[in-house]
Amino acid sequence: MKVNDFSKAQGHWILARMGKRVLRPGGKEMTKKLISALNISKNDDIVEFAPGLGYTASLALSSNPKSYVGVDSDEEAIAELEHKIHGPNIRFVNRNASNTPLLNETKDKVYGEAILTMHADHRKLEIIREAHRILKKGGLYAIHELGLDDVDQELKNKIQKELALAIKVNAKPLTQEEWRELLEHEGFKVKNFFINEMLLLEIKRLIDDEGFFRFLRIGMNILLHPKARTRILEMRKIFRKYQHHMNAIVIIAEKN
Ligand SMILES: C[S@@+](CC[C@H](N)C(=O)[O-])C[C@H]1O[C@@H](n2cnc3c(N)ncnc32)[C@H](O)[C@@H]1O
Repeated sequence: MKVNDFSKAQGHWILARMGKRVLRPGGKEMTKKLISALNISKNDDIVEFAPGLGYTASLALSSNPKSYVGVDSDEEAIAELEHKIHGPNIRFVNRNASNTPLLNETKDKVYGEAILTMHADHRKLEIIREAHRILKKGGLYAIHELGLDDVDQELKNKIQKELALAIKVNAKPLTQEEWRELLEHEGFKVKNFFINEMLLLEIKRLIDDEGFFRFLRIGMNILLHPKARTRILEMRKIFRKYQHHMNAIVIIAEKN
């Protein structure tokens, strides 16, 4: 999570260093849809993969689930989350989401945002498989990721390559059908899709996600850090270039 060199750091950590708290493609709007569709109750044992800065954790915890476990592979993110968010049935673990210490079929709801996109397809499957392993039968798994329209393979490769270069993460967004196939491959039945535009670095979305004053603070920070600014402008350029082919997708799936 530490950003030592703006020219090499992963895009999401640069944005976080500039003060951005919402780091998922569909912003708060899609996160709220995801949380609302999960319908978290006081009887639910829930798990979040990749809580990152904890925005969605706080939202999910406002429904007072029976228990919450956040699993993130970044040690510093976990230390900050433990410092920021605590409670008797709240736990954060520093593990890869594909290999959690959680027992088989013990959870009611599992969700993760902006984690699968960051991984190659076989790694995506490992994470989805882990969600399936820890969920009870009939349990829900929700994802919020970067989607692609039905583009041909050549354009898809081009988008993935340019995106990976700009955000310095081997990002592999998929089409709606490809996301469905991955989930169904691991034994889920897709119940619901929500699609939104991918406007992560556009002013309106920035203000919606962060609020006006934080938006101003982020803007000031970007002005004061020219190397971060260069990277953020590069990212925005690629997002804009492919804006009409990319989207933000939330999928709610049920364990068969
Ligand atoms: C782009 S951020 C998204 C954070 C948060 N979900 C959000 O939407 O704001 C990516 C987060 O995923 C975590 N992460 C990436 N791969 C992971 C994995 N395989 N297992 C657990 N955490 C992972 C990173 O450490 C980071 O906290």
